[in-house]
Amino acid sequence: MQNIKILNMDIYITKDYDEMSKKAAEVVASVVKEKENPILGLATGGTPAGLYKELIAMNKAGEIDFSKTSAFNLDEYYPISKESDQSYYYFMRENLFKHINIDTDKTYIPDGSAEDVEKESEAFDKLVRDTGGVDMQILGIGTNGHIAFNEPADNFPTKTQKVNLTESTIEDNARFFDNIDDVPKEAITMGIGTIMNSKRIIMLASGANKAEAIKETVLGNVRPQLPASILQFHKDVTIILDEAAAKDLLESL
Ligand code: PGA
Repeated sequence: MQNIKILNMDIYITKDYDEMSKKAAEVVASVVKEKENPILGLATGGTPAGLYKELIAMNKAGEIDFSKTSAFNLDEYYPISKESDQSYYYFMRENLFKHINIDTDKTYIPDGSAEDVEKESEAFDKLVRDTGGVDMQILGIGTNGHIAFNEPADNFPTKTQKVNLTESTIEDNARFFDNIDDVPKEAITMGIGTIMNSKRIIMLASGANKAEAIKETVLGNVRPQLPASILQFHKDVTIILDEAAAKDLLESL
């Protein structure tokens, strides 16, 4: 596994998705073991699913204990009910929470059925603040460079809020739905400011469709049109890539 350091970024290049997931699990597990009351920031999507499988296996083998862990999720579609099998609430339960010994009363996901979204968003940010901040935030990246559902824009949204999804995100996420018209057009997302307040960040990316966004994240100008580029301003970022996602970056060094 190749390891390179660029600015604040500790970058690992693994051979494939499985190795990426295993390396990510090792990093996340080290935080859970080291902190008395660990606070994780969690992500959904195809990318972290393998990491969650690894964490489940480690928990079942008695290698890692989540009983004192709290967790905040980055985002949720809007509007969506918790019962919907397309909700991120459902994803987290099925892909992680129900398989590990985490106290689900200490897991927080923006409520995609909230009537007062502004109130829900403010309460979410306050909850993150009140816990003292996320120890390690897990991030994927959109093919358009989004982090959470902070889409390319003219500014970096600071707080948790409701946003419109871009056409490219709707197209990317259509693979999880029967029909592209079923993909929600809006979401509640943790803001960039909240994400940047995390003590550590771990970003994962797999596949050639992420290669350009990864190159721009690490080497491009910091700009809201490529939201992930803001990570260049964070002091402690680990990026774990498979070879396909690392290709454009490696070719530019
Ligand atoms: P994916 O999504 O893991 O399903 O590719 C990543 C993202 O949109 O952040």
